Amino acid sequence: MSDAPRSQSAEITPEAVESAVAAALTAIAAAADTAQLKDARAAHVADGSPLAVLSASMRQVAPEHKATFGKLIGQGRGRVTQALAAKEAELAEAETAARLEAERVDITAVPSRTRVGARHPLAVLQDHVCDIFVGMGWEIAEGPELEHEWFNFDALNFDEDHPARQEQDTFYVDPASRHLVMRTHTSPVQVRTMLDRELPIYVLCPGRVYRTDEFDATHLPVFTQFEGLVIDKGITMAHLKGTLDHFARQLFGPEAKTRLRTNYFPFTEPSAELDLWHPTFKGGARWIEWGGCGMVNPNVLRAAGIDPEVYSGFAFGMGIERGLMFRSDVQDMRDMAEGDVRFSEQYGMVV
Ligand code: PHE
Repeated sequence: MSDAPRSQSAEITPEAVESAVAAALTAIAAAADTAQLKDARAAHVADGSPLAVLSASMRQVAPEHKATFGKLIGQGRGRVTQALAAKEAELAEAETAARLEAERVDITAVPSRTRVGARHPLAVLQDHVCDIFVGMGWEIAEGPELEHEWFNFDALNFDEDHPARQEQDTFYVDPASRHLVMRTHTSPVQVRTMLDRELPIYVLCPGRVYRTDEFDATHLPVFTQFEGLVIDKGITMAHLKGTLDHFARQLFGPEAKTRLRTNYFPFTEPSAELDLWHPTFKGGARWIEWGGCGMVNPNVLRAAGIDPEVYSGFAFGMGIERGLMFRSDVQDMRDMAEGDVRFSEQYGMVV
């Protein structure tokens, strides 16, 4: 826009109109964006612009010339208005296109801030325990979680009316005629291993087990166990005790040890309750119930086709959730089952 003072009236001539129109059209054509177009409109169309001044000067035109000059100015203004509208549309389109281009989202781009998450501490602890036994030359064995009653109970020497078979403890799976249960312990893997593998046997069986327990701070209806099984010639309870002490020291430090108290399991004879001396337990070192163990019952060996006169063995089983509670001072077991990554993240990649 020119700063020069503008006169409020001008002499209307075809040349003056043409020159004002031409100047307006040139400025409109030259506008590179809507801001420049706005300036062009202010300079060449708005009040005070040469074209507006010419328009205003119509008042002074003698009546007999009004029609001619009116037409002249009207046509000139029409051309300018049209050019403005066309330019406005063109710029708006170009600006929209430019904005879309600038804001384009590349859906093939790899996001740079992926949350890494963390392995579940139970899985990490499970791997750690497996490593301890693999380090002693043992193998890892696994079995199905949906198990036949024969493997879960019968082959393990449970009689028909053993209380563990009651529906209060065991999840039976319909139809009852198929005799399927969610395994209540990892001991059926003992039987499967004895049927499947060559003797001697040194296996650790980690896995999930199910019982109709409450879901509260100290009980879970699904939890994880380790089962250890050794079948060889000349195996005694001393081997069992030595293995458990070694395992306890590996997991809970050099001060850790185990203690056996008499107990009963159908599949071991003699059987023992297994306690752990936890040297770094929060609130002071103490004995903690850890699991069960014993010498494999000859009836179990026979059910798997192994001669108890030639071979003997030991077995043990313990829950890993309790192990995690002791090692890491987890207060509420439900945190281990709920799968919230904020729980896992606190452990990083080690337990
Ligand atoms: N299966 C037993 C339980 O779940 C534990 C156990 C395993 C006991 C092996 C003795 C031998 O309670």
